[in-house]
Formats: sequence, C-alpha cells, structure tokens
Amino acid sequence: MSDTTTAAATSVAPASTETVLSVENLKMHFPVKGSGVIRRTVGHVKAVDGVSFEVAKGTALGLVGESGCGKSTTGRMVTRLYKPTEGKINFEGTDIANYTGRQLHPMRREIQMIFQDPSTSLNPRHTVGSIIGAPLRIHKMVPKDKVLSRVQELLEIVGLNPEHYNRYPHEFSGGQRQRIGIARALTLQPKLLVADEPVSALDVSIQAQVINLLQDLQKEFDISFLFIAHDLAIVRHFCPEVAVMYLGKIVEIGDRESIYERAHHPYTQALLSAVPDVKQAAIGGRRERIRLEGDVPSPINPPSGCHFRTRCAIAKDICSVVEPPLLQIGKKHKVACHFPGEIHQHPEKPVTAPLLGVDEFGAPDPGASPAEVPGDGPGYADTWYDLANNSRGRA
Ligand SMILES: Nc1ncnc2c1ncn2[C@@H]1O[C@H](COP(=O)(O)OP(=O)(O)OP(=O)(O)O)[C@@H](O)[C@H]1O
Ligand code: SF4
Ligand SMILES: [Mg+2]
Repeated sequence: MSDTTTAAATSVAPASTETVLSVENLKMHFPVKGSGVIRRTVGHVKAVDGVSFEVAKGTALGLVGESGCGKSTTGRMVTRLYKPTEGKINFEGTDIANYTGRQLHPMRREIQMIFQDPSTSLNPRHTVGSIIGAPLRIHKMVPKDKVLSRVQELLEIVGLNPEHYNRYPHEFSGGQRQRIGIARALTLQPKLLVADEPVSALDVSIQAQVINLLQDLQKEFDISFLFIAHDLAIVRHFCPEVAVMYLGKIVEIGDRESIYERAHHPYTQALLSAVPDVKQAAIGGRRERIRLEGDVPSPINPPSGCHFRTRCAIAKDICSVVEPPLLQIGKKHKVACHFPGEIHQHPEKPVTAPLLGVDEFGAPDPGASPAEVPGDGPGYADTWYDLANNSRGRA
C-alpha cells in the first residue's frame, strides 16, 4: 500500500464492545499419511495449535505473521470451511465449532469470507449476476423477481456499474473482480467477514481503493472483520486490534498502539523492524532492523517450549523447557514470552517463572506458589501483570 494511504486517517475505534466472535483454544491438526498401502497417520501438521481471541462488533482484528503460520487455517475454521480438531468458536454466544452441515446452514448467512485471489474464487462460466444472485436464491433472501434489482444494488454499493450484471468475471480487471467477490460476500448481510489477504493479489494503486471500500462498508453495515494479511502497514491502517501468529500460536495480541508502538515480543519486534515507518521517517528517525535468522521450523515437529526459540536472539534455558503462556501485560495487550519487554529492555529473569511455579531454568520450583496467569482466555481481564512493578495492575 502507498505511504499516502498508510498515513491517512486510520479506522476509528470500535463504537461498541459487544463481542461477535470469541475463539477459545482453537486447534487444527492435519493428519500426515504414510506412503504404504495402508496409509496410516504418521504425524500431524499442527497448523493452528491453541489460539484464543475475540472480535468486537463493528471492529476489525488483524491476523498477521509469516507464510505458513496458520492464518488462513484459522480463518477457514471460523467460517467453518474446516471443522476444528479442538476448541470453541463462539459466534454471538453460540459454539459452532462442532455444528453439522444442517446446523451451519443459517450460520452461513452471518459469516462470510473474502478470498485472496478474485480470479480463482469466481466461477468463470457464470455471469456476475448469477454469482452474486446465487446466495440470494439459495437462502431465499428476496422473492425471485427481486433478485436482479438486489444484485444491481449490490454492484452499485461496491462501486461497479449495475448494468454489467450480464458480464463474465474475465471481462473485469483484478480490482473490479475483488469488488465482485466483496459484493457476493455482502449479499447475505453478514455480521462477520473473514477477509483472507483481500488485497495482496492486487496492484498497489488498487489496494488502497479496495481497503477504503471495505472501510466504508464496515461503517455503513456495522460489519466485524477478521482481517488476515502479511502486510503490517495495511493492517495498521485497517485494524484497531492485531494478533501476531507464529507457528500455529498467537505470540502477541493487543490494540493497535500496543502492537505498533510498544511491541514486547521479539518476533513482533523483528516483523515491525522491516516495515517502513512513515512517522519515524518524518522525524528523522529509523527503526532498528532486526534480521530473523533461519527458516520457520516444521509445524509437524515444532520446537519444544517456545516455538520461536530457534530464531530468537534473546532465548535462554527456560525457553526450550517451558512454553510461555499468553500473559496480559496491559489493558489491551498480551504477550507470550518469558522475557517480555521493549527492544533492548527485555528483563534478565523470566517474569513468567514465579507464575508457573518453575525456577529461572524452567525446572519445577518446590518453593514457588504458582498463580493464575492473567489474561489466559479469549478476551482481556480487568487486571493484568504490571511488568514495571512485577505485580498485578488494574484498568
Ligand atoms: N489441508 C491441509 N493439509 C495439510 N497441511 C495443511 C493444510 N492446509 C494448510 N496446511 C499447513 O498448515 C500450515 C498453515 O497453513 P496456512 O495456509 O494456514 O498458513 P498461512 O499463515 O495462511 O500462510 P500464507 O501467508 O502463506 O497464506 C502450513 O504449514 C501448511 O502447509
Ligand atoms: S520465550 Fe524465549 S525464545 Fe520465546 S520469544 Fe521469549 S525469549 Fe524468545
Ligand atoms: Mg494464507
């Protein structure tokens, strides 16, 4: 996305704190089959390995992280294209994680998905009118004789010529095709849109237009978004809240300011160091570039303890023994690291050790009295771990 767009007014804070989606300990473990005649399961790809988050009404949660960290799999579970291996997907208070096809039918109206590549997600043999009109017919949203006028209305809403309903997808440009995909997702007036890299297949000049369209639609129809992207500048622009994933887990989650101005996880810090920062450039400063060494390990056999430890510059003994819990360290800020802190301010001792009842090397500490980890769930607690005083804070 262009700097101009990034610097433009960012999306407004959520008007309401009502939760639309609450995901709890969600897992997707794909079986890996052996090559013999009897294709036994020989392992599992732990694509998503216990993520929890919430999306408030009318707002957007951004899901970011390197390729293969489990973003799309998370989105596909939320839309129930995949049935999760484990965990809860509470949509407006109802757990749909184990719903059957029949139970899901009415839910499909409420949760829709926008895909990355509009040229493959639209059927080339169908006209735009029939692509957008199909959900209206299937769900009997409007009488048959009103389908065409509703399709034309939707085309107009997404900025396309309503008279073009009889054209085929290949007769449109990439940006226009994504607008068709958005119109199709809007047909059933969803409450939640899962947008999986909605602009990454588009030219930079078109990206801003499509993002602005999504923002207008969000305001007009009060839609909540789970917005998946690897471009941190776009996410900063669109999402008031952000979750950072690494190897199937959320390593840091918080409001925009906490993540972009005060990231406490070494992985988030490394990701952000690669983003050109308009504001810092303007004051003559530069973010320190942190290079991530090595490749992302296989999700079939992730590292013990902290999944990030094989690439972390500040890892210590405890990191290979104990998995760091997602610890709430601010009103809207959680981090999964034994040594959370801003760059060059990571503590010497693992702050999590006393809470977990282990010593600084990760061995059980008989003298310790383990405590509940603040923020260990989908939402935010009203008390949290205050890193400055090593005690609990309050809103
Ligand atoms: N159907 C599947 N069967 C087996 N493994 C899968 C399947 N789908 C995804 N995976 C694996 O799960 C992991 C997470 O994949 P996913 O597509 O969710 O990542 P992503 O974060 O969306 O990546 P990208 O940014 O490249 O789109 C990857 O290691 C991928 O190879
Ligand atoms: S827990 Fe250890 S390895 Fe993981 S991010 Fe923190 S310091 Fe690095
Ligand atoms: Mg993906």
